[in-house]
Amino acid sequence: MQHLLSIDDLNPTILKQLFVETQKILNDATPIRESKHHVVATMFFEPSTRTKLSFSLAAQKLGFSLLDFDQQKSSAIKGESLIDTLQNLQAMGVNLFVMRHPKQMIFDEIHTALKPTSHLINAGDGTNQHPTQALIDVFTLQQHYPDLTQIKIAIVGDIKHSRVAHSNIALLKMLGVEQIRLIGPADFLNTIEGFECFEDFDQGIKDVDAIMLLRIQKERMSQAQIPNLATYAEQYGLSPDKFALANKNAIILHPGPVNRNVEISTDLIEHPRSQILKQTQHGVAIRMALLQYFVKPV
Ligand code: NCD
Repeated sequence: MQHLLSIDDLNPTILKQLFVETQKILNDATPIRESKHHVVATMFFEPSTRTKLSFSLAAQKLGFSLLDFDQQKSSAIKGESLIDTLQNLQAMGVNLFVMRHPKQMIFDEIHTALKPTSHLINAGDGTNQHPTQALIDVFTLQQHYPDLTQIKIAIVGDIKHSRVAHSNIALLKMLGVEQIRLIGPADFLNTIEGFECFEDFDQGIKDVDAIMLLRIQKERMSQAQIPNLATYAEQYGLSPDKFALANKNAIILHPGPVNRNVEISTDLIEHPRSQILKQTQHGVAIRMALLQYFVKPV
């Protein structure tokens, strides 16, 4: 794998290797060597808290050099193209690019401009893909359910506009997971072949083992498409009563940012079976494992 642009770039062998490394990092069993030789550039053309800061922290923990490209204060404002920007950063020695961009498939246009020794990681492209979030979510699920093919997973909310949902579905499919239920209002449901879709939350959530909640991607729809939040919360927000319909050991996942009392009621965020902060914690280790993978290919 030279770049991680979509789940298609992964396979079960790479996945296993990444998860073994992630576990070692979480167990603190990996000796960290300073390596200023590797230079990571974070290039975020959309807002981010967890993804950007966890990649930055991962790079720092590995002893890599780190540059944060700030578009608003950069020569992009003077008309420099993205490809020219990448090539100039590459000329300074950047070999790992972590990029988030509002345009889906942007990486198809730019990755060919990079040297074979450079690596590009998709940190989210429009509604298309967010592969490292899916790695975090699947790793977190596997901590609870080592065999994901045996469980029922519900993905709830704005599936249509969610790159997190799209990458998770692709990764779970790659692992042979078949029992995935998609729950949401008709306008937010992608018809994905082979998956059960539910507009009725209570029906969809019944007996599931894991619930993956999603934020409404307001920035990716017109004002008229945004549902009334109170009505949405009542129908599709996870409340203690609705959570009780799931399997008694069911866990809650959410990639963040959470809109409290919209997709999840505030008192469930810190529920003992909520994995939301665990996902954030795993994010740093997953991203360390991934950066290391690129600089130490097998
Ligand atoms: C997600 C994203 O940017 O797609 N956030 C994240 O990376 N954890 C989800 C979202 O914005 O709703």
